[in-house]
Amino acid sequence: MTDYAFILGKNWLLSLAELILYLQDRDLIVKVRDHSRNVAIIEMNQRLDLEQIVEIQSALGGCFKLGEVITTYEKDLVTDAFPRKGKPDKSARKTMQRCDWTEKIWKNRRYNKVKFGVSTYPMIDRKPDVDLRKFTYGLNQWIKNKLLADGIRKASFFIYDEPDRRDKRRASVALWPHTIARHGLLVPPNAEILATFTDSKLYLSKTVVVYDSQLQKYRDESRPYVSAEISTSPKICRTLLNFAGARPGETVLDPFCGTGTLLMEAIMLGIRAIGIDVDPDVLQGAHQNIMWLSRDLGEHVDFELIRGDSRQVVDILHEPVDSVAFEPHLGPVLEEKPDAKTADEIIEDLTELYNTVLRGLSEVLKPRGRVGMTLPLIKSTKDIHSIDISRILLGTDFEIGLLLPDSMLDKSLARDSRIVINPNRDRLPERKMGQLVQRELIMLIKV
Ligand SMILES: C[S@@+](CC[C@H](N)C(=O)[O-])C[C@H]1O[C@@H](n2cnc3c(N)ncnc32)[C@H](O)[C@@H]1O
Repeated sequence: MTDYAFILGKNWLLSLAELILYLQDRDLIVKVRDHSRNVAIIEMNQRLDLEQIVEIQSALGGCFKLGEVITTYEKDLVTDAFPRKGKPDKSARKTMQRCDWTEKIWKNRRYNKVKFGVSTYPMIDRKPDVDLRKFTYGLNQWIKNKLLADGIRKASFFIYDEPDRRDKRRASVALWPHTIARHGLLVPPNAEILATFTDSKLYLSKTVVVYDSQLQKYRDESRPYVSAEISTSPKICRTLLNFAGARPGETVLDPFCGTGTLLMEAIMLGIRAIGIDVDPDVLQGAHQNIMWLSRDLGEHVDFELIRGDSRQVVDILHEPVDSVAFEPHLGPVLEEKPDAKTADEIIEDLTELYNTVLRGLSEVLKPRGRVGMTLPLIKSTKDIHSIDISRILLGTDFEIGLLLPDSMLDKSLARDSRIVINPNRDRLPERKMGQLVQRELIMLIKV
């Protein structure tokens, strides 16, 4: 068995829920051994090859880096060696300074030149127990000294150390994907080391793959048709596909496909995509986007776009689908917070729409098939208004799928209250700063 470190997206609970589902669907996970708001340490039932690791990372909407765990330290030792206040403990430093674990990464000592860098991820981003800057500099320096002592001629390291742009009190000491790519840090003998803190431990891992931020940016910004008002983020689309359990070679349906973001993500993963939308203009945009993607990928892509009202999905579709993933119509575009009565009315209309569509979907989806969908959370002048899930499931064959299942979480470790997970959740929020309509993600299973 091998442990892997997954660097989670900003919405760590959503990323973790997606990750567990994805790995469970492929029978790879034993359990989540440990976690923080930045990392999940996953015990797998097999050692993965490079191809599998790349496939896993690229299929997940909420995983930025993936590494294999090399060694673990008790966090108390690190806190003693690099305290935020007070003097460092010399014997703790000596223990860490040895860096014997580097021999697992650099087995061959005859390298002329090695470039590396430590990326540090605290348990939570504010008020870490350890002096993150000193720790990151210290560890880089010790690794360098060890490599030189082992006979490697030249060793140099990279550090990114800047306050976070959005939150100046937060130190950011992790290398960016473009730095890693520019300096070839994933190409042996170079390496990136992930230093991830949890409640009680420090895990050091060797990065195997990182999120390709340039490619994603290019695909996001260069596609011909985007609508700021309706387009869903590609990352959320990936998460929805994983909630739905969509697999390469199978067919996924997006009954509110809009500009085709989710369809494009599906196509990139080798999943056949069918999109339905009532609006002919956005459908035309989705078509342009997919043709553009097809040219970009340099291959023919398998998709179908249908103009229609998804409340009549049973009459529109002539074949069963393996999974359904979508961001539905989320109500009228709001310029300002509505009053509570208006928000309730919007929720009522949407409840009816979703229920009608789900009744149809429960007929066109194969048995045990899943749905991944978003629901709106509307902020009124008074309150937050959400959809009652039991009402949208009335008259359907769906039951709600539980996210972050208890059975997958290791409860043997002490847990700081700031990272405790309430398991078995029926919905998880996806909040975006400044938006009047927020989202929640749910997973439904056809029984
Ligand atoms: C939030 S948008 C989906 C955005 C899409 N995921 C994207 O990235 O562009 C909702 C879409 O649902 C469509 N729509 C609204 N009511 C519909 C219905 N009854 N049947 C089919 N499509 C509908 C709208 O035209 C709109 O494009």
